Amino acid sequence: MQMMELWQQRKALVEDALLKELREDEALDATLATSMKYSLMAGGKRLRPILLMAAADAVGAKGEQFITTGCALEMIHTYSLIHDDLPAMDNDDYRRGKLTNHKVYGDGMAVLAGDALLTLAFEVMLRQKGVDASVLAQVVREISTAAGPNGMVGGQAIDLESEGKRIDMETLRKMHMGKTGALFKAALRSGAILGGATKEQLAALTTYAEDFGLAFQITDDILDVVGDEAVIGKPVGSDEKNHKSTYVTLTSLEEAQKLAQDTVDHAVKALQDFGPEADFLRQLVEFLINRKK
Ligand code: IPE
Ligand code: IPE
Ligand code: MG
Ligand code: MG
Ligand code: MG
Repeated sequence: MQMMELWQQRKALVEDALLKELREDEALDATLATSMKYSLMAGGKRLRPILLMAAADAVGAKGEQFITTGCALEMIHTYSLIHDDLPAMDNDDYRRGKLTNHKVYGDGMAVLAGDALLTLAFEVMLRQKGVDASVLAQVVREISTAAGPNGMVGGQAIDLESEGKRIDMETLRKMHMGKTGALFKAALRSGAILGGATKEQLAALTTYAEDFGLAFQITDDILDVVGDEAVIGKPVGSDEKNHKSTYVTLTSLEEAQKLAQDTVDHAVKALQDFGPEADFLRQLVEFLINRKK
């Protein structure tokens, strides 16, 4: 099956599975439930669950088997976006082509919808079937570390503190690896662990994941400058508005594009010992740095 076809097919499976997981756990408050669903089901590329499944495929397992853990990651990702858009952070009005959560439900409910998706994610992870408890514990540790102060939240904190300052490349890299890279890395490593990867396979997929995350955020920075709002579904120029340091501001558009391509080449090289089971990952990372959304 072609890369795009498999991506779209699995994206549909993720949407169905997310709805099912939401239904399992009714919120005490109807507005909270609606607000969580509003952002979670607003679309999105569903990349983290897709990567988790693709990593499991790459080590010879059947990716779909681990969709529940993928859904948990998507919940954490969506929570991070809801909070990222708040007035106290990036203060953006559109996300995934719709008004941001706080624009519809208010700042307080948006904070709570984020909190709720984050905590629900951990319950959902524990619903993953067909996995030994010790393996699942390893995956829960991967994901919690990636989401926390040493991962996504840590990167967001560097981002917040760097507003209006000129940071060095080292700090920028650390910020990107945290705010964006950590969840991608957790997705790929979790898929590999669930799929029974060898030590060597896990190491190779970890290198791929680090490159993937970096290349992805460089491209996000580029799209914030040259993207089409109607296509990406979120505001263009948000970084400039907030005086952010990005790869584009610290280097140039051309250099950022070149760095993204070099990073992708390195990512693909990391998969050299894998067979055709890893073709999806090879093609996906190439596709994503040339994406429009
Ligand atoms: C956006 O992530 C935020 C970043 C980490 C750069 P995505 O580009 O994966 O957003 P969705 O899920 O497709 O909306
Ligand atoms: C934030 O990066 C990534 C997370 C939400 C963790 P950005 O602030 O650049 O993401 P967008 O551009 O708003 O999606
Ligand atoms: Mg941000
Ligand atoms: Mg933002
Ligand atoms: Mg951005």
